[in-house]
Amino acid sequence: MLEKVKSFISEVENATAKTEEEVESFRLKFVGRNNVINDLFEEFKQVPAEQKRELGPALNNLKNLAQNKLKELSSTVSAGKSSSSDIDVTLPGAYGVEGSIHPISQTKSRIIEIFERQGFNVEDGPEIDNDWNNFTALNFPENHPAREMQDTYFIEKNPDILLRTHTSNVQIRLMGRKKPPIRSIMPGRVYRNEAISARAHCFFHQVEGLVVGENISFRDLKNTLYHFSKEMFGKNTKIRLRPSYFPFTEPSAEIDISCFICGGSGCKICKQTGWVEIAGSGMVDPNVLENCGIDSTKYSGFAFGMGIERITMLKYQIDDLRLFSENDVRFLKQF
Ligand code: PHE
Repeated sequence: MLEKVKSFISEVENATAKTEEEVESFRLKFVGRNNVINDLFEEFKQVPAEQKRELGPALNNLKNLAQNKLKELSSTVSAGKSSSSDIDVTLPGAYGVEGSIHPISQTKSRIIEIFERQGFNVEDGPEIDNDWNNFTALNFPENHPAREMQDTYFIEKNPDILLRTHTSNVQIRLMGRKKPPIRSIMPGRVYRNEAISARAHCFFHQVEGLVVGENISFRDLKNTLYHFSKEMFGKNTKIRLRPSYFPFTEPSAEIDISCFICGGSGCKICKQTGWVEIAGSGMVDPNVLENCGIDSTKYSGFAFGMGIERITMLKYQIDDLRLFSENDVRFLKQF
């Protein structure tokens, strides 16, 4: 019997398997329910005591060897299966489609970067706000036609809750919370109930700026926007201020820059005028400061606001505003 055990031991030690079937037949013979080792253990019971001393450990050894060998065989067969058959490790990897940063986000980041270098910080506020923050505190009198200029989406009436029509609501919130000096920009999304076309959309993005402090003058406004324009559109850019009207600023001005496409000689982008409008601006109306609890005899300020879509359209000569919100990757991939 000892000879039989020894020959099984060498059979187990030398066993190999290339397929799952071969592993299975090894298992059936040496580990399965009716395996040959169990038979040997049965026989072992009849063996005289003096033989048992040698035979016992040999049998146990055979049993352990068989179990370990089974594990070894099945793991080599399953590892071999994945590396040899279906996966070719020499093939180049498959890459996912890479996205790009939306042009509006790119322009927004650039604007923020330029103003941050001039000492502005970024302020944020809600897109849903009340009438006070969007209109009344900004010196829009009740029933004043200026309210009609900004076709408002109302969410609730009396008291009015609305989608902000400009990011000026953040200015009001900021001045209510923080005393001068203030030097902040407010980028964000705004909403107006306009028919969607190549030139207008029901939502767009703005960056507004607000500076409040002692002795802030129109000269500061002009220099800040002059510096911005040169950084944004090139160092030869000139600016021009045209008188305008906003309820919250007095005096008010539109900011034009010399056309950076034709350099001022006249082209399609500037409609042959040599100038393109980029922002509204003005000195903060003292009523607005007072509405926010800021002493208008001590402090003055200026504010400006620009459309991010408009600036992006000018910069990349995009002629349809709707492209920004259609998510067509053929358009987005170009930036
Ligand atoms: N809030 C104005 C608008 O959306 C823009 C603006 C801001 C104009 C600040 C002047 C000063 O039309």
